Amino acid sequence: MQNVSLNQGLQIAMQQINAGQLGQAQNVLNQILSKVPSHPDARHLLGVTYLSQGRYKEAENEIRTSLKKNPTFAMAHYNLGNALFAQEEPDKAITCFKKALKLKPDYLQAQRRLADAYYTAEKFDQAESTYRDLMKKLPHDVGLIVTLADMLDTIGQWDPAIALYKQAIDMKPDESVIYTKLANTLNQDAQHEEAEKYILKALELNPDHHSAHMAHSYIMLSQKKPADGLAAANRALEIFPGETTAVAWKMTALDQLGGGEEYDRYMDFDTFVRPEWVDVPDGYKDIDEFNEALVQHVENHPKLFAFDHYEVTRYGKEVKDIYSEPMGPVAHLKAAMEKHVANYIANLPDDPDNQFVQTAPKKWRIKSWANILAGPGRQIAHIHGEAWMSGCYYVRLPDIMKSDDNPKHSGYIEFGQINDEFPMLETDRLKFLQPKEGLVALFPSYLYHSTVPTESEQPRIAIAFDVVPVK
Ligand SMILES: [Fe+2]
Repeated sequence: MQNVSLNQGLQIAMQQINAGQLGQAQNVLNQILSKVPSHPDARHLLGVTYLSQGRYKEAENEIRTSLKKNPTFAMAHYNLGNALFAQEEPDKAITCFKKALKLKPDYLQAQRRLADAYYTAEKFDQAESTYRDLMKKLPHDVGLIVTLADMLDTIGQWDPAIALYKQAIDMKPDESVIYTKLANTLNQDAQHEEAEKYILKALELNPDHHSAHMAHSYIMLSQKKPADGLAAANRALEIFPGETTAVAWKMTALDQLGGGEEYDRYMDFDTFVRPEWVDVPDGYKDIDEFNEALVQHVENHPKLFAFDHYEVTRYGKEVKDIYSEPMGPVAHLKAAMEKHVANYIANLPDDPDNQFVQTAPKKWRIKSWANILAGPGRQIAHIHGEAWMSGCYYVRLPDIMKSDDNPKHSGYIEFGQINDEFPMLETDRLKFLQPKEGLVALFPSYLYHSTVPTESEQPRIAIAFDVVPVK
């Protein structure tokens, strides 16, 4: 009799979870657990309710307890993977998804999440083979194809990315977003006219598609048609005032059109690019001791990975999320960066016509990563499209960067240069900033910047960050 009521209770809880009544489901499950504290199904479902509420650590704990009692419960391994993935532990999540698949080989949701976790963990080959295997099993899943194409685009594999986007368009010919992605990839692959064809189709499907106007602007600029590039950027800025990438395209267009008063206001490096010294945090005798602690933390970080081509960096090493636990000395740096950002915002000029100034966020969070460059390692010209402002703290630099005899500006950060496709015409606008250990450079995210290779064996270690507005 008790079993029947327990099973009924579980059924009710499951229906409540499916209906989004999480608090009610938790009441029912806690009643069951007060009678049978180790009931694996009830523990697992309680964990699922926490997962839906974003209470990932609690979800992890409940599901682990469930698995102690029932270690062959495939769905519990899957959901434990989800809880760990959400806590930015993709490697641990991979182990869980694999266990779920071993217990239940046709568990497609677990295979999908496994592929996503490989992608997030930068295990691109394994991610690709897992996505491709899934695509055979789910041949009508367009989202899967687009996700794989996005990943291949990120790592610079344009030909297969283009093929996949075209496959997705054949299956979903009315989706403006996919045409836009394809157009962007074609443009990166220097197929500008093809790119233009697809972006015009994207805009025909959705004339108010902000990203499509931005891609349109970029493609026009790549073809040295600045007036068209400017019109598209302005259209994008009507939809989202101050949007970082659109401002960057607009500045490029204005530069190609000869500058002007509005250009001068946004490209005012003296006002907006600010190098500032960071105070020695408590507990360190000087900035060098603090920097040495950061060097050890970055160089020995379990998430440090090396690559030839990753996003805008060539031949480097990176820790993607340096604010993840254990933070060690980075906790002090985080506090310092928050202070510098608040100060930057408080001291912005009073300019009612500058969308960057006018969209300064009231609430924001910082996203931060570390990179190590040596020899030919460099960052190609880029902006930080997701952020409002960005910064970079210099931890350890090779000797050449400390020398007065450095005519090539080795290791410097250069502002203003766009890229080889459309160099800035007003070359006197270029600004080289000399990084120094203990210095943070703060700048608007729309400003193009790149780094000059050091050509040195000694590492150039920096911790970069983005200030992302929070609504
Ligand atoms: Fe950057």
